[in-house]
Amino acid sequence: MTAFITLLTNESYLPGVLTLGKALKHKYQSTYKLAILVNSDSLSKESAELIESVYDDIIDVGDKLIYSSVEEVDTKLGRPELAVTYSKVLLWSLTQYDTLIYLDADTLPLANLDHLFDEHKDLLSTQVVASPDAGWPDIFNSGVLILKPSTDTFTSLVKHIETEETPSFDGADQGLLNEFFNLKTKGSNWKRLPFVYNVTPNASYQYTPAFDRFAGDIKLVHFIGSVKPWNADFLLHGNYQAQASLYDVHKLWWSTFHEHFPGEIGAKILNVKGEGYSLKFGKNKNVWDDDADTSVGGSTGGITDEPIAPVFPWEEREKRHPTRTFTPPPYGEEASEEGEQDKLHDELKKSIETLNLKTSSGSKAGSLKDKYNIDSSEDNKWDPTASLNEIAQLPSKLLSKKREEESKK
Ligand code: UDP
Ligand code: GLC
Ligand code: MN
Repeated sequence: MTAFITLLTNESYLPGVLTLGKALKHKYQSTYKLAILVNSDSLSKESAELIESVYDDIIDVGDKLIYSSVEEVDTKLGRPELAVTYSKVLLWSLTQYDTLIYLDADTLPLANLDHLFDEHKDLLSTQVVASPDAGWPDIFNSGVLILKPSTDTFTSLVKHIETEETPSFDGADQGLLNEFFNLKTKGSNWKRLPFVYNVTPNASYQYTPAFDRFAGDIKLVHFIGSVKPWNADFLLHGNYQAQASLYDVHKLWWSTFHEHFPGEIGAKILNVKGEGYSLKFGKNKNVWDDDADTSVGGSTGGITDEPIAPVFPWEEREKRHPTRTFTPPPYGEEASEEGEQDKLHDELKKSIETLNLKTSSGSKAGSLKDKYNIDSSEDNKWDPTASLNEIAQLPSKLLSKKREEESKK
């Protein structure tokens, strides 16, 4: 048995898992099962019913959740809520499945992904398939994983957590899984999945010409960072100056959401009270912890209010507290029309091209020359947003103009 699987430990990620499930099953017609690890204690009856309407296998791991130190992940990533992501380790314990494709709740497929099961059927349970992380490509991003559950691997992972002095270099699952599958074995147990299967458009470093070159090939986008599309509708309205590509991929997420959860139902889902940022963490405990030990995982419980130094580039951005949307964004209705997502996909490509014209000189041969050729027409006034390349040429242009004037004297 094989399945796509995701993780939902609290309702803050509910819009994410519902949209992900609908995209896989209805938009891209997967023939595989959809499974989800949930903490059923954290779900209202309505939320549980919604999940049941989308997912085939609902696996309650409420009493099995694995936490790392909240304090450590807060210090290292500025994301205390990610302590619970150690629970991804439970994926290896699901031996009722032969192969699993794990997807974070904040991922959005842009194509059918079923072929990945065939392509990786010979994977070993000691191996994992994952895309390089945009922030450090020698490390894989743990938001998309292909894996083979196995009791041996699960036991080894738990042992790694219990016995290693620093089981995870980032304090959460990505640091843990990389230590285990990648660094411990000098990379030999990490099989590389192309980046197009886990594109992180809101990482602050973007290789724009490559984004442009491969925009049409993107199979999945992953909204990493503390601001998820469903709590960032400010990106779609008003004067918020988002990167063009980020704005467009957020629109893609919203159009998928509204396509499958139109009107009132969508508004209801967005209004679900998630824990999110406001969560006050107490001490977390793992199943194997000794009851008497209150210093488990190094967590002292509770987060300080002191600002945490950013670790990743995307942490440098202004932190925005999630806002809940009480009315569906205005384009919701039109976005639910058939073919809207493909249209948006094209728009994404187009806007990336525009962005490219503004920020690079070489990738669109001739286009900058056409656009900024000051001799070609009266209309071509100097544009302050022109490329650095063009600006770099200005002094020599001014100089030759000056020489010309001098020679006329
Ligand atoms: N997650 C969850 N509850 C939480 C935090 C995380 O269920 O409180 C799950 C969810 O599936 C999420 C994944 O863990 O997508 C990893 O967290 P996130 O995607 O926010 O990490 P990022 O990709 O931003 O680093
Ligand atoms: C990464 C991954 C995410 C993971 C987090 C913490 O950004 O996208 O899935 O939970 O790191 O390790
Ligand atoms: Mn994620």
